[in-house]
Amino acid sequence: MPPIATGTDASGPITVHIKDSVQISVEEPVQEPIQEAFVDGDVAISPNVPDQIPALLRRVALHGEAYLTEKDEEERTTVLDAARALVYALETPREAMIRHTWCQSSLYAALETAVDLGVFPALSKDDSPKTAAELAAATGADPTMLARILKHLNANGVITETGPDEYRRTGFTISMCSPRYSDAYPCMTGCITAGVLSLPAALKKTNYANPHNSTSCGFQLGFQTPLHFFDFLKENPVHAVQFNNHMTAYHQGRPSWMDIGFYPVLSLVADTGINERDALLVDMGGSMGHDLSEFRRKWPQVPGRLVLQDLPDVVQQARGMGLDARIEVMVHDFFEVQVVRGARAYYMHSVLHDWPDSDCLRILRNIVPAMKRGYSKILINENVIPSTNAYWETTSLDIIMMADFASTERTETQWRALIEAAGLRVVKVWTVRRGVESLIECELA
Ligand SMILES: C[S@@+](CC[C@H](N)C(=O)[O-])C[C@H]1O[C@@H](n2cnc3c(N)ncnc32)[C@H](O)[C@@H]1O
Repeated sequence: MPPIATGTDASGPITVHIKDSVQISVEEPVQEPIQEAFVDGDVAISPNVPDQIPALLRRVALHGEAYLTEKDEEERTTVLDAARALVYALETPREAMIRHTWCQSSLYAALETAVDLGVFPALSKDDSPKTAAELAAATGADPTMLARILKHLNANGVITETGPDEYRRTGFTISMCSPRYSDAYPCMTGCITAGVLSLPAALKKTNYANPHNSTSCGFQLGFQTPLHFFDFLKENPVHAVQFNNHMTAYHQGRPSWMDIGFYPVLSLVADTGINERDALLVDMGGSMGHDLSEFRRKWPQVPGRLVLQDLPDVVQQARGMGLDARIEVMVHDFFEVQVVRGARAYYMHSVLHDWPDSDCLRILRNIVPAMKRGYSKILINENVIPSTNAYWETTSLDIIMMADFASTERTETQWRALIEAAGLRVVKVWTVRRGVESLIECELA
């Protein structure tokens, strides 16, 4: 069939045909493969985004100075973001490729080995430098092997070298003495990373469709299991404990919705006549109860019951955490109708992002019958992906969600559509800072 029009657009030449006399089809322009010769040899060994470098250098210097004088957390994160952007602009494509392909997996392996051996507690015992031989003696490792691991950890800023095969602890090594932080490494290996690494194959298999089936996605491919992630955890209690520990740590040190200036916490009790017998907050899928513990610590005088709900094994672990006696712990499957009726707020933190829309709808609709109109709220503490400049922690989590849960981090439009489909309405999306989970306040529509 002869073309009716030809021309060019930004992607190259296009050809338009009349098909069946009414439909117009646009032939994809044939993409010329980039020939090896086309890649200027200098590109791969020159800074990646040279025109950004001057402004980023100035930004680091300016905010670095402000951070040094004010010790302000916002200045710290501004410098950190600028410094990271500066590295990406300054490093050459070759360097970036080596960092991605050699460094990320090998550093992970070195870190997990060090965690497993107990290198970090041995190094953190006191502030004095320790030799590789001393650390090997303390951990029972082969000194030659450990010396190699330690060199790689130093090369990546994890520990500080003080001389040949001699190292001093850092804030990072001290933090790794707590399973709350160190469990992240075996946890990711035990129940997350193989799914992420299988994502390319899983996507290829489904012709690059956005995943929706959480029992047939990267997770099942990577871990060679038919089980859903949370059923896999039931079968693997060691990883389940590590996962729950990781949950208590990953959002530490960032603004929390219950901090002053984020969400008006006292509006939950003002003019409600709420008393100690009434349910104030029901934390669904609340894991170790860390959010309710934080609430009790930050708002000790606020009346009302705090109820922690999760699956049986998780609840059992939570009971051993020495929670405040005023936190009630209860087994509840959120795919069943909510049993605590008429609470002031049903709260979910990093729960709905684990599930595709169809499951989220079931979870939300199971709360609705328990809600008291004009009084009960649902508080959803989750990432709201911005239309530009999404934060790397959030996008990392989004890819993990895609790979292991066939679920997603959501944009505001996606959240609103989901919440409204469950017969609810969004009162307000409370947000303080880039990269920090928002609080989506909802009530019955
Ligand atoms: C990603 S974690 C979030 C934990 C906690 N809310 C936080 O933000 O740290 C998801 C939680 O949902 C719980 N969960 C999964 N399926 C559940 C179900 N059917 N009913 C109740 N809780 C469930 C898990 O055990 C886990 O504690």
